[in-house]
Amino acid sequence: MMKTAWETLLSIGSEGGVLELKGRLTEDGWYFRRVVSDMEEGSRRFSAEGSDEDGLALLDDYAWLSLYPLYVDNKITTAVRKRVLFHRYRNESAFSAWIESTFPEDDWEAAKLVNWILTSGSTVVLTGAGMSTESSLPDFRSKEGWWKNIDPRTVASTEALSHHYDLFHSFYKARLDNLDQASPHNGHRALANWEKYGRIDAVATQNVDGLHQAAGSQTVYELHGSIRRFRCHQCGEELPRSTFIEKEACSCGGRIRPGVVLFGEMLPAEAWEPAMEKMERSDLSIVIGTSLEVYPANQLPAVTRGRTAYINKDIQTGAGDFDLVIRGNAGEVLTTMNTYMDEVLME
Ligand code: APR
Repeated sequence: MMKTAWETLLSIGSEGGVLELKGRLTEDGWYFRRVVSDMEEGSRRFSAEGSDEDGLALLDDYAWLSLYPLYVDNKITTAVRKRVLFHRYRNESAFSAWIESTFPEDDWEAAKLVNWILTSGSTVVLTGAGMSTESSLPDFRSKEGWWKNIDPRTVASTEALSHHYDLFHSFYKARLDNLDQASPHNGHRALANWEKYGRIDAVATQNVDGLHQAAGSQTVYELHGSIRRFRCHQCGEELPRSTFIEKEACSCGGRIRPGVVLFGEMLPAEAWEPAMEKMERSDLSIVIGTSLEVYPANQLPAVTRGRTAYINKDIQTGAGDFDLVIRGNAGEVLTTMNTYMDEVLME
């Protein structure tokens, strides 16, 4: 009968001593034994289908996740991660200790944010142009952004639409040409995935590129409208893209424009109102890829009643108001988070 020696898989420190989970591999699977300090407390035999979760269940008479990990063997890390990601931590230092004992250092903040999403009753995401740069669409205020060489008021305003239509038209035509080459990246798909799992309630976006919907997100509030829709500026009639591209005029004589919010225009109430209402009620808001320089979208994070997290390439001033800040590329951070989300949600 092949048997390995008992080995410590998990060791947890508390005031009263040490709580350990020991394991031994035999031909018909793992046996687990709970040991409190150095007193063996009896073990229950687990059959071959006995899993790491069964072993961890031996510890559940104790609030072990609120205590402090001393050692986590990599044979049981995946099962411990699942418990850590679903646990509602009240003690920040225990939370950090378990995250740091079970995840790679580069992923600590991403793993924390996965825990916050999994323990949140309602989560709303606010995205900006930084969400689309990994889909090869320039943002606005980075060094290679649109506004580095163009004053937005000369092309993205009602004044430009009325008095400099050629400039207005060539700016939006250039953006439409860019858009034809763009597709959602894994970060967009991660957000759509989490909505499918019921872990995200909505995405409020300042982007007009439609990439969240293209990735499968269902509840998307387009705060700044959409460059994929076109209408007459005069009579409001919806018109096909070709009429804008060909610089046609509306039958009423009005000029044709994309359905984006121009500087000086109001945000569409059908996007703004539900976004504000959901943000106010959310336990968690996650702000991704935006400089937060443009009013009123930049007011949304502040109305969240719960926790706030910020994922951005450059961390500007004002990021200090967030409960969790992750400096990085949206696509990469969300992909890392999605790996852990899938690990615990895929049955
Ligand atoms: N990952 C994360 N953050 C990124 C990435 C990326 N891959 N790429 C860029 N960023 C960050 C930049 O560092 C910057 O802080 O995203 C932010 C983009 O900020 P802006 O260019 O100002 O875009 P945004 O905040 O969406 O602008 C708001 O301004 O011009 C108007 O209507 C336009 O909707 C736009 C609004």
